[in-house]
Amino acid sequence: MINKNQKTKGGLFDVYSLWEIEPMKAKGCWVWDADNTKYLDLYGGHAVISIGHTHPHYIAKLKEQIDKIVFYSNSVQNSLQIELSEKLASLSGYPDYSLFLCNSGAEANENALKLASFHTSKKRILAFNDAFHGRTSGAVAVTDNPSIQSPFNTGHEVTFLPINDIASVKEALKTDDVAAIIIEPIQGVAGIFSAEAEFLQQLETLCNNHNVLLIADEVQSGYGRTGKFFAHHYANIRPDIISMAKGMGNGFPIGGILISPKIEAKKGMLGTTFGGNHLACAAAIAVLDVIEGENLLINAFEVGNYLKDKLSDCSGVKEFRGEGLMIGVELESKYADLRKKLLFEEHIFTGGAKNNVMRLLPPLSVSKTEIDIFIDAFKKQTQQ
Ligand SMILES: Cc1ncc(COP(=O)(O)O)c(C=O)c1O
Repeated sequence: MINKNQKTKGGLFDVYSLWEIEPMKAKGCWVWDADNTKYLDLYGGHAVISIGHTHPHYIAKLKEQIDKIVFYSNSVQNSLQIELSEKLASLSGYPDYSLFLCNSGAEANENALKLASFHTSKKRILAFNDAFHGRTSGAVAVTDNPSIQSPFNTGHEVTFLPINDIASVKEALKTDDVAAIIIEPIQGVAGIFSAEAEFLQQLETLCNNHNVLLIADEVQSGYGRTGKFFAHHYANIRPDIISMAKGMGNGFPIGGILISPKIEAKKGMLGTTFGGNHLACAAAIAVLDVIEGENLLINAFEVGNYLKDKLSDCSGVKEFRGEGLMIGVELESKYADLRKKLLFEEHIFTGGAKNNVMRLLPPLSVSKTEIDIFIDAFKKQTQQ
């Protein structure tokens, strides 16, 4: 006998709160729903859309690759991986670092933590209050949010410290059991808070002096989002491992870590079935082509400054933070209400963060005209 509450047709595990909107097509910074209503995308599908939706070069490269080969395992040569690593090395300013490819941000951090532990033969990790690094075992253990950690995740040795407080880091390093310090150069989920440049520089020195690896989580802040290739470039530091994902494939799932030459590779120490597959590499190469060819770092920097300039003129804003096109706007009133109005009345996607912070993470190709559309809508909705 079938219980009344028992599903008979399948269905999805209900973990997401969904908006009543289904995007059906997209172009540049715009998305259309099933009724052909057009939305301005200042959320970039959560910082993922870097070069703009359905960019013609990206689509052409993916289609070309589909016709050739989509996937083979990591047991054979794949020259697309080499091409990607060379392009990335040159654009990111890390010609001497090597690349390990995976599929997501959490997986990138998982590999970064594991590699640091292999390299140092130690296992404690220092992370920071309000950090977000992903939802897999190690990544969620270094994420400062007990509500998304199961008992299974809490077995790791992790110490959370206040950000920008070098004294507490020095104190924590006294135990000599720390493998790595992991930090988002600009915290995203926390509400767009930048680590101070001096703090990052001091972390780099402490790590070098204590045989501890510095991991920069650039999953959200990397790939040109802040107007520099990586957000840590603002502090002039060179982390030992840099994790990347979101903007890397412009929507095609791909992640990776850049690894300092001081870390030696051993066969089998890291591995994945899907990481670095042909289609993912074709997507990631196309993204770098466009970032370079269309000067998107410069655009992110300039349009980001333009946006901040316009925000300084808006009422209802307590504070705004961030670099380039990774902007947090702390509001005087509840963001949830404004977010709904922007979405359903103005047809503009924006993102949320803790404490009434609106996160703006548009494609790096967004124009000043598109920012003006947002500012007009924002003023209209906050002045009502
Ligand atoms: C800084 C940071 N690290 C890691 C992750 C996890 O990435 P993914 O969802 O691809 O696993 C995120 C996702 O929001 C992030 O913002």
